[in-house]
Amino acid sequence: MRVLGIVCSPRKGGNTEILVNEVLKASEEMGAETSLITVAGKVINPCDACGACIKTGACRIDDDMTPVYGAISEADGIVLGSPVYFWSMSAQAKAIVDRTYVVHHGHQLRGKVGGAVVVARRAGCTNTIQSFFNFFNHHRMVIAGGVIAFGNDKGEVRKDEEGMRETKGLGRAIVTRIGKTCSIRERS
Ligand SMILES: Cc1cc2nc3c(=O)[nH]c(=O)nc-3n(C[C@H](O)[C@H](O)[C@H](O)COP(=O)(O)O)c2cc1C
Repeated sequence: MRVLGIVCSPRKGGNTEILVNEVLKASEEMGAETSLITVAGKVINPCDACGACIKTGACRIDDDMTPVYGAISEADGIVLGSPVYFWSMSAQAKAIVDRTYVVHHGHQLRGKVGGAVVVARRAGCTNTIQSFFNFFNHHRMVIAGGVIAFGNDKGEVRKDEEGMRETKGLGRAIVTRIGKTCSIRERS
């Protein structure tokens, strides 16, 4: 059972990374293998709507999204984490979301389990987490839940004890949902 965390903050070691790592740690404690990808220092271009993927089944943009495609296809569970930027997800998160257009035609993410983590100084978390839930729904994924946490300076989110605690619950819920989804698949 594999759980992948994707940190969509350009700030290395920032609040989003701290939270996503906590989710992964809880998933590991439940027996999952985990891996983490961060967008920090990477180039992930936006979808340019060229339509090539509709014909070829592959994205023609050659950038740091390539390993993300490999990782999401291998994962049973995906944790998407983003800071709130202007009441929405980061540009990097939106680029990743839009670039999954290529795997949406064949419903390649269907049945995978999704969890979302968002962090803000103060406002816009609900919009942002809802966008991730919409993304999971669109891909016909199973939503394990979401965590909203608060913090602004690097590492400040650790002071949000409730937010930090909720990451544990999300990590466990992802593994539990993966287990249930697998057993339904085995029975059908
Ligand atoms: C461009 C930009 C826009 C932001 N917009 C918001 C916002 O709308 N609401 C908010 O509460 N915080 C906002 N913030 C603060 C970040 O969400 C906050 O610092 C967060 O902890 C950053 O997470 P990170 O450490 O993972 O990068 C913004 C920060 C930046 C750089």
